[in-house]
Amino acid sequence: MNVDPGGSIASLLQETRVFPPPVDFARSAHVKSLADYEALWNFAKDEPEAFWAEQAKALSWDQPWSAVLDWKPPFARWFVDGKLNASYNCVDRHCLGPARNKAAIIWEGEPGERRVLRYQDLKREVERFASVLKGLGVKKGDVVAVYMPLVPELVVALLACARLGAPHTVVFGGFSGESLAGRIQDCKAKVLVTADAGYRRGKLIPLKDNADAAVAHCPSIENVIVYERVKSKVHWSPGRDHWWHELMASTPPDCPPEPLDSEHPLYILYTSGSTGKPKGILHTTGGYLLGAHLTTRWVFDLKDDDTYWCTADVGWVTGHTYLVYGPLSNGATCVMYEGAPNWPDEGRFWRIIEDYRVSILYTAPTAIRAFMKWGEQFPRRHDLSSLRLLGSVGEPINPEAWMWYHKVIGGGRCPIVDTWWQTETGSIMISPLPGATPTVPGSATRPLPGIVPEIVTKDGAPCGTNQGGFLVIKQPWPSMLRTLYGDDARYQSQYWSDIPGCYFTGDGARRDESGNYWIMGRVDDVLNVAGHRLSTMEVESALVSHPQVAEAAVVGKPDDLKGQSIAAFVTLETGAIASESLREELRSHVTREIGALARPDEIRFTEGLPKTRSGKIMRRLLRDIAAGVESSGDTSTLEDLTVLARLRTEEE
Ligand code: PRX
Repeated sequence: MNVDPGGSIASLLQETRVFPPPVDFARSAHVKSLADYEALWNFAKDEPEAFWAEQAKALSWDQPWSAVLDWKPPFARWFVDGKLNASYNCVDRHCLGPARNKAAIIWEGEPGERRVLRYQDLKREVERFASVLKGLGVKKGDVVAVYMPLVPELVVALLACARLGAPHTVVFGGFSGESLAGRIQDCKAKVLVTADAGYRRGKLIPLKDNADAAVAHCPSIENVIVYERVKSKVHWSPGRDHWWHELMASTPPDCPPEPLDSEHPLYILYTSGSTGKPKGILHTTGGYLLGAHLTTRWVFDLKDDDTYWCTADVGWVTGHTYLVYGPLSNGATCVMYEGAPNWPDEGRFWRIIEDYRVSILYTAPTAIRAFMKWGEQFPRRHDLSSLRLLGSVGEPINPEAWMWYHKVIGGGRCPIVDTWWQTETGSIMISPLPGATPTVPGSATRPLPGIVPEIVTKDGAPCGTNQGGFLVIKQPWPSMLRTLYGDDARYQSQYWSDIPGCYFTGDGARRDESGNYWIMGRVDDVLNVAGHRLSTMEVESALVSHPQVAEAAVVGKPDDLKGQSIAAFVTLETGAIASESLREELRSHVTREIGALARPDEIRFTEGLPKTRSGKIMRRLLRDIAAGVESSGDTSTLEDLTVLARLRTEEE
């Protein structure tokens, strides 16, 4: 993306194919036409409080709210004085009628085991595990960290926390012990829930070993609960460590849901920002749950007989909202698959869809591009006729991948919802409604009712049609983050100071003549690798923490599969010698420090980095070099012009 000095963004993509909602689909959809959508959107824009009050009736409240919104920018309180419990909404209320025998979670392990938990099974497990946590002294407000593979017990742990009002913080199982420790230290979690190990592509991920390394630096952790997933050998700290199954067998099963204030913290989820340590995004109960509930119903057009599969891991916000809180609060049947899409072969996803008759599939562009590369022969071997809707999330989906998804997976009959949102927004913000919105490959189309985005220049002036600019949100919405955990000042400066009065998303976008939004990627120093946000700064600090590295600059490079890959420019300490083995060592070092997803794809050793006279690294130039294109921009502020020429000629 090119940001010109006036702050608008040049856009090069042009796409003209339009796919109206299939007539049959629209007929039975929750929102049936563009006119219905527009009526809802206008009502929400003009009378937001009346709109949200009406929608909030979809949740079960223990006590009604006295005001819909208390807005002291940038701090919002939604459904003030209202009380509810998220685990009650996701589990108990479905057990009052025949849905108690409906499958809540259909789980498949990577090695092939299968389990089904009906709503009443899930209730029993959640209640019992809440009782376990209580027995270990967890009280309302205590933070519980969760570092687990994708097993039903992960969902049970989250809902048990929600039952007690103990905010959870999930750390993705692919992160290292160091990353886990940093997050636990920030939120001072009291209990860690983990597993002996997890499976990934047939290999074991030593979760308990990583957890042990982390907990050694986390004095706040009093107890570690270990779910036995693979029966691998683990170290044990008597008194601190407890087996999940032993606690569950020895604890009384009853634990009623605690009526919680609508603004009671539900969870903290860490995500990368452009500077400093990861940000603890704080979501609270009522508003978040409403966003998750409503968007799942609208965007996925969820019906009682759907079999819904969101392929995300619960380590990311997509798993929180669209594998746990959204579908379960709607009483949906969710498929959950523990492992890799290419294990034991590249047909695994398609076999799962055929076996369970999945009707709604929600996945990421990076996965779709991998499927394209592996070839059509894998999906073609399976009956995918149960599918009726496809979703995409995490990064812009390129029109070629969109068309492939549409034809090969959707058989040309399934609408595609390209959903734009963020960890911070809590739920989907811009997306087609599949029975109402004509879709265009590559565009997330229109804002959902209640969401008022705008595209502006750096000074906050609205951009014209097709003029690229900064994407902002102008009105508060219920599932918005409330703050950065423990750091109101950073919350304010990060999101609410760039463009006065608006929430700044950090993304560039344009809106076309039909009102469709085209997301153009991040405008800050945040990478989007395989749909996951990583800050260049974190990868740089990991590199610089190696004794032989003097300085490092990390940039994203366009990548056919992952969206962006990571290119690192590294200058070494005097005396250190650039070599292939050092390059490999640095890659492993970053994996140890952060996790495999941050491993640089490319490392270039260089004698100097291009800097401005004030010492700022000119990443724009490095991005061009990494991408192998001529630098189009201005280089007049470059301090040492020879650096560029040397970088271009230096061997990779
Ligand atoms: O740049 C946008 C991109 O992912 C960022 C949010 O990342 P994260 O908080 O990790 O959440 C990912 C899952 C919601 C956004 O700022 N992004 C997400 N979805 C899309 C997208 N970019 C384009 N199109 C999307 N559908």
